[in-house]
Parts: sequence; structure tokens; C-alpha cells
Amino acid sequence: MQRLAGQVAWISGATSGIGAATARLFAQEGACVALVGRRKHLCEAIAEDIRALGGRALALACDVSREGEIRDSIEQAVAAFGGLHIVVNNAGMVQVKMVHECTVDDWDLVMGVNVRSMFFATKHALPHLRRNRRGYIVNVGSISSFVGQAQTPIYTTSKHAALGLTRSIALDYAADGIRCNCVCPGITDTPMLREHLDTTPDPEATLAERLRRVAMGVALTPLDVAKSILYFSCDDSAGVTGTSLVIDCGYLAAAEWQTRGKTAFGE
Ligand SMILES: NC(=O)c1ccc[n+]([C@@H]2O[C@H](COP(=O)([O-])OP(=O)(O)OC[C@H]3O[C@@H](n4cnc5c(N)ncnc54)[C@H](O)[C@@H]3O)[C@@H](O)[C@H]2O)c1
Repeated sequence: MQRLAGQVAWISGATSGIGAATARLFAQEGACVALVGRRKHLCEAIAEDIRALGGRALALACDVSREGEIRDSIEQAVAAFGGLHIVVNNAGMVQVKMVHECTVDDWDLVMGVNVRSMFFATKHALPHLRRNRRGYIVNVGSISSFVGQAQTPIYTTSKHAALGLTRSIALDYAADGIRCNCVCPGITDTPMLREHLDTTPDPEATLAERLRRVAMGVALTPLDVAKSILYFSCDDSAGVTGTSLVIDCGYLAAAEWQTRGKTAFGE
């Protein structure tokens, strides 16, 4: 039985990586999917694939840091499919810079794409979600929702914020039948990861080094993460709200890790 039959899902950042895998999986599970992304032609290509397999999909251009574009994309999804049941706030970006190198524009850009977008989408989806018996909001956090990550202070802040917002939404709208949860992936092989690795002198060596910390020794696939998003978007997770699911191949389980040597304090 398809788990999302009759459901309408709005998925941000659906042009690549985790978002694209989620859109394809949701369509297989019977959902009508609104693929939201800045590059409409990429959304359209995935939507066409989904339609070719008999699914229902709509490509929508949207910069998620802009409230008006989010609102319009939600209204277009509702107009096309007759309602809205699931919101997946997946769009995100990372910037590799230390605090002393960051400008206020860097701060606003990353927080706008990673966090303000969740606020906008939730706000404009709520009137539609409230009309149903049940509604689902899934925010994509990160292992950086729990721990710091080197040289990405704004990203780390944004992912901690995603978890806080998740809990708050869960409390305030539980009475409306809306559940809100946060999926927190570890190292996942997507264009974002590759872009991040490319800022280092030897990307493959950097990846191998990072995977040494991962108990399972591998990177996640986008589909692995999409399955966790699906779990929070249907009755399989009945009773679960305001929480997070870490999917990280054992990354956060590691208490021991190689240091780079003594700090000034250690001398
Ligand atoms: N890849 C990883 O290792 C990893 C780990 C933890 C969390 N995540 C999170 O997973 C989510 C998906 O990332 P991914 O790894 O699939 O990367 P990705 O780069 O493949 O996907 C990110 C998506 O967000 C979209 N996006 C970025 N800025 C946007 C904007 N202003 N408006 C609309 N869309 C925008 C991109 O176009 C893209 O479709 C992100 O929130 C990311 O922080 C990724």
C-alpha cells in the first residue's frame, strides 16, 4: 500500500540531493509533489521523470529566502492539487568561513535560506494544513544541529535554530493535528557535500578523513535521508512530534577523535 496516497507535499530544494530523492520517493508512495527550487528547469526535469512514471508533480520556481515567493509557491501547489498535507523544509546552503571572515550579508544569506525559509513556509502552509485532520512539517537539520562543525559558524547556528523552531512549532500546533519533526543527517553524498569538499586542497582525502570518524565508514545516500523524511511524513511516526531523528552512520556516537595536537592552553 502506498503510504502517501491522497497527500500533497511541498518540498523545498527539490532540484538536487536530498530534496530530489525525497520528491521521487514521495511520488512513488502516491503523493502529489510540488518541487520547489530556484532553478525551475531542474525542478521541471525531475517533475517530468515523476510524471513519466505515472506520478503527479509540479515544478515551482522559488527563492526560499523570500517570503512572497514561498507564499506564492504554496498557493500554486494548493491550486494545482486541491490542498496541502506535508511541508518539507529541505533547502539549504553552507558557507565555509570563520566568524572573523563573515560579513553581515553572509549571516543574512545563510540564515535566510536555512532558517527564515522554514518560518515563511510554515506560516503560509498553516492555514492549509489546519484544514486537514492531519498535517506534517519536516525540517531538515543536520548533525550540526547538535555539535559544532569547523569553519561553518553560520551554518551550525542555522541548523541549531532549525531544531529549536521544530520544537516550538510542534508545541503550538499539536492541537491542530500537525506534527513537526526534524531529520538530522550526517555526511551525505550530495552536491552540497561535494561543494564543501572542493574548498579543501584534496577533496577525496578530506572525505576519507571525515569518514574515519563514521562508525559505518560510508557516506549516506540522498535516498537514505529521504526515507527518514518519509517516516516523519506519514502515520508510521504516529505520536512522534517535536523531536529529531539523527541519521548519521554513527557519526555522533563517536566520543573519541584524533586532535590536531596541543592547544596553547595545553602548553
Ligand atoms: N549533504 C550533507 O552532508 C548534509 C548533511 C546534513 C544536512 N544536510 C542538509 O540537507 C539539506 C539538503 O542539502 P543537500 O545535501 O541535498 O544539498 P544540495 O545542494 O544538493 O541541495 C540543496 C538544495 O537547496 C536549494 N537551495 C539553496 N538555496 C536556495 C534558495 N535560496 N531557494 C531555493 N532553494 C535553494 C538548492 O538549489 C538545492 O536544491 C540542506 O538543508 C542541508 O543543510 C546535508
